[in-house]
Amino acid sequence: MFLPSSLIALVVATLNSLPQGEQLPLKQDPIPRFPWIKRFASVGESYAAGLGAGSRLDWSCSRYDHSYPHLLHTRYLGDHPNRTHEFLACSGATTTDIVTLQLPTISEPLDLLTISGGGNDVGLTPILNSCVYQIFPTEPGDCEKAIREGYRRIHDQSELRKNMTETLQSAKTKMNPEYGVVYVVGYAGFFGTEDGLCNNVTWSLWGDLRPDLPRQYLGVGLRRELDSMVEAVNGVLRNVTLAAGRNFRFVEYDHVVRERRGRYCEKGVNEPNPNRVGLDFYEWGTVDVGDNSTGNGSWSARPREKDVERWVQETLKLHPELEIDEERRWVNKSLIKEGGVEADGLIGDSIWWLLPDIWKRVFHMRPGGHDIVAELILKDLEENGKGVKEDVGEL
Ligand SMILES: *[C@@H]1O[C@H](CO)[C@@H](O)[C@H](O)[C@H]1NC(C)=O
Ligand SMILES: *[C@@H]1O[C@H](CO)[C@@H](O)[C@H](O)[C@H]1NC(C)=O
Ligand SMILES: *[C@@H]1O[C@H](CO)[C@@H](O)[C@H](O)[C@H]1NC(C)=O
Ligand SMILES: *[C@@H]1O[C@H](CO)[C@@H](O)[C@H](O)[C@H]1NC(C)=O
Ligand SMILES: *[C@@H]1O[C@H](CO)[C@@H](O)[C@H](O)[C@H]1NC(C)=O
Ligand SMILES: *[C@@H]1O[C@H](CO)[C@@H](O)[C@H](O)[C@H]1NC(C)=O
Ligand SMILES: *[C@@H]1O[C@H](CO)[C@@H](O)[C@H](O)[C@H]1NC(C)=O
Repeated sequence: MFLPSSLIALVVATLNSLPQGEQLPLKQDPIPRFPWIKRFASVGESYAAGLGAGSRLDWSCSRYDHSYPHLLHTRYLGDHPNRTHEFLACSGATTTDIVTLQLPTISEPLDLLTISGGGNDVGLTPILNSCVYQIFPTEPGDCEKAIREGYRRIHDQSELRKNMTETLQSAKTKMNPEYGVVYVVGYAGFFGTEDGLCNNVTWSLWGDLRPDLPRQYLGVGLRRELDSMVEAVNGVLRNVTLAAGRNFRFVEYDHVVRERRGRYCEKGVNEPNPNRVGLDFYEWGTVDVGDNSTGNGSWSARPREKDVERWVQETLKLHPELEIDEERRWVNKSLIKEGGVEADGLIGDSIWWLLPDIWKRVFHMRPGGHDIVAELILKDLEENGKGVKEDVGEL
């Protein structure tokens, strides 16, 4: 467009005549929605770290910016100039890690704490590996064995219940005794079980390399069994939370995911359907809008056997202390030396944590799932507000 130079001069003069910095009225400091929440921390495992959801915040613990703790601090709780957030959750953490590595770093009393934990105590990763994706070869019967062991830890009073109770007792010492609130977040069941469309589906990865081993199928019986196990874990977490005191609140979101049809194998869904709108979990091949979770990686979201082979070669190069035995099990040679000639050095499922996040995040929540949890916590804070002063006798 052509403008006479005199007009340009006029426009420029007008712009320059505006006093610097006064084009917009100064923004008033908003009154915080929750003025009492000044010190906020989040502990737990990969469900709290938000493994795979959004953009990665760190490498060692795989924390992501669409995790419910980060969403609470940056969005749901609203602006508060004086609120700090210690995001201590770390992928792979057990309750023992929460108690020994995460909670001790908190030095000042907290007004708000969120906890996701217990799944790794029960062995969720070995269960999902041997019953569903078999990214590492499994023997016949491994799935049943892993499920039995999971139930043992859920029902044995000295395992999940005891360790989670100790975790909450340890958390209590970190709270503002006047009104600090702790939210303990449960888990959601993974599968719909209303029809048989999934019965023939397998997400097993190693099937073609080891045709001698049976593949796992997502039969309705297995789906029910895995959902029941999640329910049983929630039952223990709920009880332990209620027993911990009046300022401990349990976050139940399984029913919300169910109502939204957010699980795998929902009625009428032909799996695999990794990018189904409304699916709240990652599946092989899920790519979210604006997905950036691989960061510097070049791994495809849906691993093929050749991708796994490449990953195996790169991992062996990166970790010269590791090797693969003739049954394709992972061995850490340093452990053999440390343990003497008898030690086999097998590292079992801990190899899982060396996989790229875009594979590890399968069975973890997509951003929409984290929004559910954050919204429930926000709603509860609006309804129930701050905690109450604990009776001395209760401590
Ligand atoms: C934040 O802290 C400053 C300094 O202590 C104080 O003046 C201000 O009122 C606080 N703001 C809120 C919203 O608590
Ligand atoms: C429970 O805690 C004890 C002691 O910290 C630990 O040895 C044990 O492995 C834990 N149990 C589970 C199931 O994580
Ligand atoms: C399951 O697989 C069998 C054999 O491949 C096939 O005949 C059957 O139609 C499949 N059932 C469904 C529900 O896809
Ligand atoms: C939870 O507590 C209730 C009441 O004390 C009890 O009936 C129930 O069996 C407990 N559930 C679990 C899973 O521990
Ligand atoms: C994607 O990830 C890279 C590496 O972590 C980061 O530098 C970049 O800012 C991210 N991009 C977006 C859009 O989040
Ligand atoms: C790339 O990813 C690896 C982990 O897979 C990490 O250790 C390394 O720091 C990353 N490099 C950059 C430049 O982000
Ligand atoms: C192998 O074992 C050594 C000695 O315990 C340990 O330092 C190292 O981290 C292990 N490597 C892996 C990849 O787990």
